[in-house]
Amino acid sequence: EQAQKGGYDHFMLKEIYEQPRALADTVHPRISDGLPSFEAQDDIPEGFWRQFDTISIVACGTAMHAGMIGKNLIERLARIPVECDIASEFRYRDPILGKHSLVLLISQSGETADTLAALRLARERGATTLAVVNVTGSSIAREADYVIRTFAGPEIAVASTKAYSVQLSVMYLIAIRLALANRAVDDARARELTSGLLGAIETTKDVLGLNVEIKEYIKRYESLRDLFFLGRGLDYALSMEGSLKLKEISYIHCEAYAAGELKHGTISLVTEGVPVVAVATQETLLPKMVSNIKEVHSRGADVLLVCKQGLEVDPEIYSKRLDLPALDDLFMPVVGVIVLQLLAYHTAVLRGCDVDKPRNLAKSVTVE
Ligand code: G6P
Repeated sequence: EQAQKGGYDHFMLKEIYEQPRALADTVHPRISDGLPSFEAQDDIPEGFWRQFDTISIVACGTAMHAGMIGKNLIERLARIPVECDIASEFRYRDPILGKHSLVLLISQSGETADTLAALRLARERGATTLAVVNVTGSSIAREADYVIRTFAGPEIAVASTKAYSVQLSVMYLIAIRLALANRAVDDARARELTSGLLGAIETTKDVLGLNVEIKEYIKRYESLRDLFFLGRGLDYALSMEGSLKLKEISYIHCEAYAAGELKHGTISLVTEGVPVVAVATQETLLPKMVSNIKEVHSRGADVLLVCKQGLEVDPEIYSKRLDLPALDDLFMPVVGVIVLQLLAYHTAVLRGCDVDKPRNLAKSVTVE
């Protein structure tokens, strides 16, 4: 097992470091002439992307968080309404589906019972199903009408890291392809977006360089009981994943909150010394986000700011700032998630938790 870890202390850390490679392996085969294309790799013709009025993204856990970002990207770029559901809830709201509906199922293992059940329901109702899966030949891959394989390679750690990143990269490719097919963007803009994605993937290597700084900072989290993540827009979806990661492996209670929603309840829990991870990578949302950070800071919160390089934030309102590469807002989740994964990883190690095999959790859940 030591050999399989390739010199890393845990599979999770190894898998975090594999992300630049996994992303390149997943995305490069699907770029043709500077644009996303699923024709050669996945047998999905370009015309496929023109048939849908609505899209439902259905998944569980980490995969659902990739779906939340996917919803944001597709709606923004392709202007097609998207809903994103937890697979175990999807069926019980009697979803409205028909022949112009695309149901996008995201699953690392391809065996998650709730996601499989949602896939079967979607097929029964005449929707087209497209699965984004990491494991070839899995049940979801076999039963879906179309499949996009992610190339993360085997993921051993129970907490998903590289599988999330490659799912995210596929969300970008799909959003750009849909936008182009439905004439929501022109060819030039689609090329610009595609090269933005490729550039973001390149910079993931730089973000891994924050490892030591993060490890040092989280020493203050050793005997922590609660923590809050705050974010707006894409940063909110990203915070959901950061919070799940931390909960899964370090057993710290934490919540991800949409920063603007804070004042409608959670702010009552923010008192002297409560740690808050403020994810503020979205330049367009920065002024509002800063005023939310001020709200928690003035109540004594200990703020770790995860920000984009170059954005101006008053140093008075945080205790530590981690800078991410200055990419277009749209691509910030690609780099931001790495910081949140490292944060969860080092916190769990510090607290002596079994990082790769957290209590009560399974890699693949085949019961409903
Ligand atoms: C389990 C795992 C999670 C994972 C979820 C969905 O709960 O512990 O890490 O996100 O299942 O798994 P899937 O294989 O469908 O992506």
